[in-house]
Amino acid sequence: MEIFRTKSVEQSIRDTEAPEHQLRKRLTATDLTVFGIGVIVGTGIFVLTGQVAREMAGPAVAVSFVVAGIVCGLAALCYAEFASTIPVAGSAYTFSFATLGEFPAWVIGWDLTLELALAAAVVAVGWSGYFASLLSSIGLGLPASVAGDDPVVNIPAVLIVLILTLVLVAGIKLSSRINLILVATKIAVVLLVIVAGLFFVKAANYTPFIPEAVSTARVEGLKAPLIQVLFGITPVAFGVIGIFSAAAIVFFAFIGFDIVATAAEETVEPQRDVPRGIIGSLAICTVLYVAVSLVVVGMQRYDRLSTSAPLSDAFVAVGHAWLATIISLGAIAGLTTVVLVLLLGQTRVLFAMCRDGLLPRPLAKVHPVYGTPARLTVVVGLVTTALAGFVSFGELAELVNIGTLFAFVVVSVGVLILRRTRPDLPRGFRVPLVPVLPVASVLACLYLMLNLPVQTWLRFLVWMVVGVLVYFVYGYRHSRVAAPGSGPDAERADPAG
Ligand code: ALA
Repeated sequence: MEIFRTKSVEQSIRDTEAPEHQLRKRLTATDLTVFGIGVIVGTGIFVLTGQVAREMAGPAVAVSFVVAGIVCGLAALCYAEFASTIPVAGSAYTFSFATLGEFPAWVIGWDLTLELALAAAVVAVGWSGYFASLLSSIGLGLPASVAGDDPVVNIPAVLIVLILTLVLVAGIKLSSRINLILVATKIAVVLLVIVAGLFFVKAANYTPFIPEAVSTARVEGLKAPLIQVLFGITPVAFGVIGIFSAAAIVFFAFIGFDIVATAAEETVEPQRDVPRGIIGSLAICTVLYVAVSLVVVGMQRYDRLSTSAPLSDAFVAVGHAWLATIISLGAIAGLTTVVLVLLLGQTRVLFAMCRDGLLPRPLAKVHPVYGTPARLTVVVGLVTTALAGFVSFGELAELVNIGTLFAFVVVSVGVLILRRTRPDLPRGFRVPLVPVLPVASVLACLYLMLNLPVQTWLRFLVWMVVGVLVYFVYGYRHSRVAAPGSGPDAERADPAG
């Protein structure tokens, strides 16, 4: 069927060589690892740790981080193989186009918007919260209508997205330099939490390590995890089940390693460096998360942790408010890089979709001076600004998780398909133990998805239905793969291109 026409790997790579759509190749493995850490370490560790320890997992939140890290590790291997085979902007979107066909690729591209633009807006709101609390600690409180828990318009969130959009328009090397400074600050603060926190750890806070499971009315109805509704299990918090429900939430903390793949086209030696960037950044972050969460639940009893700023508040609780201020500053730096790289990833995915004609092609023109897709960056920036001004944090993080997990499932399946359909392609990195590991990745991601609330599933389905409509109204008719002379058939007739 036409909607399952695939775009060959060779054609994807050739498209990147058209001069007016060419991105500059400047990034190295170190740049990619920094980009990865830049987008991975953020709200997940700075905010969600306290919330899930308190409400779902207790001190065993560290185990939840391990579980989520393993799920991401499996998916990361699949992303690494794909990115080293098809080093083209667009990540999971491009990978799906090469394996599953145009329509599934569109579905994934649309789904990635749920991961990237929405996450950028959500993290900008988190940034605004830390920024406002830092200002108020020096006596410059902002009015409740423009910042805080429930503002009319979240002004700091709007401003940070606008500033970062300008940085991205100005050029990727500039962005990665700013990113380097911010990431260094953030990692220094995370290490400070681990090292300074160790002095305040009390062994008594680790018992019980896995608090006894309790039934809870709080998570009934649409808020109950799908798995509990499907199998008629009474909703519980804590216990071993709680560790897995918490893993589905702290999964948010790992989102970002997949975005390294979206920068493949701008990497000098993508076959070698993209797998290093993906796996390296994920591994470093997993170690940091387990260490931070163990220290924090050791400093303060899990049921007393703060839900808005658990890392800094743990230091306030042990009488070191000045350390808390430093940690807040680090959180602001940390969240800035997260928003920056999420915006970058979103632009690159849409760039690939525009270049294929599934969205308006003129948007994908690269700026002659800056060498970046400037128009698209501005459009993405403005939409995200609007979202950041008006959305609130909470449940949207779960929506981001389901969208991301879905993309991981598709990429893992895609690895299996491409091994079968194109065994000949040079692969800079190969997933070991195929098909066992990609299949394990699919099952593990599906399992975490089942642990998300029913209402998250419903919102996800609505968004995907809208995407299908947009495809049939616009993308299907404007697709370049459908145009004569550019499809897979044309290629077979003239393999030299
Ligand atoms: N992983 C990113 C964060 O924790 C999205 O904020």
